[in-house]
Amino acid sequence: MVKICCIGAGYVGGPTMAVIALKCPSIEVVVVDISVSRITAWNSDQLPIYEPGLEQIVKQCRGKNLFFNTDVEKHVSEADIIFVSVNTPTKTRGLGAGKAADLTYWESAARMIANVSTSNKIVVEKSTVPVKTAEAIEKILAFNSKGINYQILSNPEFLAEGTAIQDLFNPDRVLIGGRETPDGQRAIQALKHVYAHWVPEDKIITTNLWSAELSKLAANAFLAQRISSVNAMSALCEATGADVAQVSDAVGKDTRIGPKFLTASVGFGGSCFQKDILNLVYICECNGLPEVANYWKQVIKVNDHQKNRFVNRVVSSMFNTVSGKKIAILGFAFKKDTGDTRETPAIDVCKGLLGDKARLSIYDPQVTEDQIQRDLSSNKFDWDHPVHLQPMSPNTVKQVSIAWDAYEATKESHGICILTEWDEFKSLDFQRIFDNMQKPAFVFDGRNIVDVKKLRDIGFIVYSIGKPLDPWLKDMPAVA
Ligand code: NAI
Repeated sequence: MVKICCIGAGYVGGPTMAVIALKCPSIEVVVVDISVSRITAWNSDQLPIYEPGLEQIVKQCRGKNLFFNTDVEKHVSEADIIFVSVNTPTKTRGLGAGKAADLTYWESAARMIANVSTSNKIVVEKSTVPVKTAEAIEKILAFNSKGINYQILSNPEFLAEGTAIQDLFNPDRVLIGGRETPDGQRAIQALKHVYAHWVPEDKIITTNLWSAELSKLAANAFLAQRISSVNAMSALCEATGADVAQVSDAVGKDTRIGPKFLTASVGFGGSCFQKDILNLVYICECNGLPEVANYWKQVIKVNDHQKNRFVNRVVSSMFNTVSGKKIAILGFAFKKDTGDTRETPAIDVCKGLLGDKARLSIYDPQVTEDQIQRDLSSNKFDWDHPVHLQPMSPNTVKQVSIAWDAYEATKESHGICILTEWDEFKSLDFQRIFDNMQKPAFVFDGRNIVDVKKLRDIGFIVYSIGKPLDPWLKDMPAVA
């Protein structure tokens, strides 16, 4: 029986391995992690991450050919194929701080593999890593090889949180990069064989190592760039009276452009987009390409601008101050159908409002109070480290309270900010909400999900990203 071990039981390692186990009953899959609490959760009824469809798969395979364990060394030494899906945070100190990837966890995983291995291994990069990481890993393994043959493959993951299971079942493509040597090609075929259990052959692309590594960074940069492009247009729409939804629709009808990823919003978030672009920027700078680096940097600047613009709209609409006012925040996750808050735009929006002394009442159907407090009190980039290495009890932000539902969050508030497009927000009883709010009552829709006309008829003053402005907002320009 082929044995797979995945180091890192996170958003990528967990769902990816669960699907491999489901689709390949003849393969034994063990997911290992240094975080005891994560592994305990994977073995419980309360999985550590929320992802539609995941729970059923885990329940079906766990204990049969899918295992979660903390004995990292034992399972690594027994495996034929080792996936490495550990954190790759942005460096906060030293060379490349604020941009370069911190490969501490990756390097320690590679050294551990070298220490405990007694048979040949295929080591698969699943984490998103800078171009040429495979070469560094190869060196670590080769210098400590004790005669063992290691083949390094790059197999970046393209799943999107919220639709991870669907994406893993029907990927647009699976990308496998490896060395162009006979051993490298054999390793590629071995991994290809795993995916071929359910992915059509023509969707499994094989490339050299560097193309695979760079393709992942490039794909995320292109996706984020589309969002920044439409968000940049949304600012112009508000200034001119155009409607960004109509502009997106017209632009997206061009088959060369296509309609996906053209929805304006308060900004993109998630663990990958910003981190991967910063990484790309750093690689460009290191390769003497400052113009290319600046081009990609602008994608992040526009994203930051969009969040600032949103905060400015809120504050300026409410007579230029939110000091002491209760603002309801509906949605904290970076998108619907996930409890993930990494780099969620809600963090910057909330921090912006807190900076103006607002009182926040936050409701999200999937995010815990502890997570929200942690996010609002920790420093940039600190989130991307294993849980047990993060501060145990971060300071709580006193002006923030967490509500159990949208009605409690909005009660007696002056304004509502919708920051995640959860379906339940579309069907709220806005008349009931309006009746329980301070007047004038404001809705700032950062995801363009509410029926603006209906809300205006109720009596709300409504701001929607990139839409013709409410007369109230026109009179209160948001200038930083
Ligand atoms: P995560 O933070 O959810 O999981 C990483 C896990 O690795 C943690 O549980 C941590 O405790 C564990 N870990 C760290 N060092 C370890 C070691 N030496 N031994 C054993 N376990 C160790 O991160 P996530 O989201 O799963 O991301 C992993 C990688 O995949 C990152 O490079 C990320 O950029 C990339 N990625 C993430 C995607 C996403 O949607 N979250 C999509 C595609 C790629």
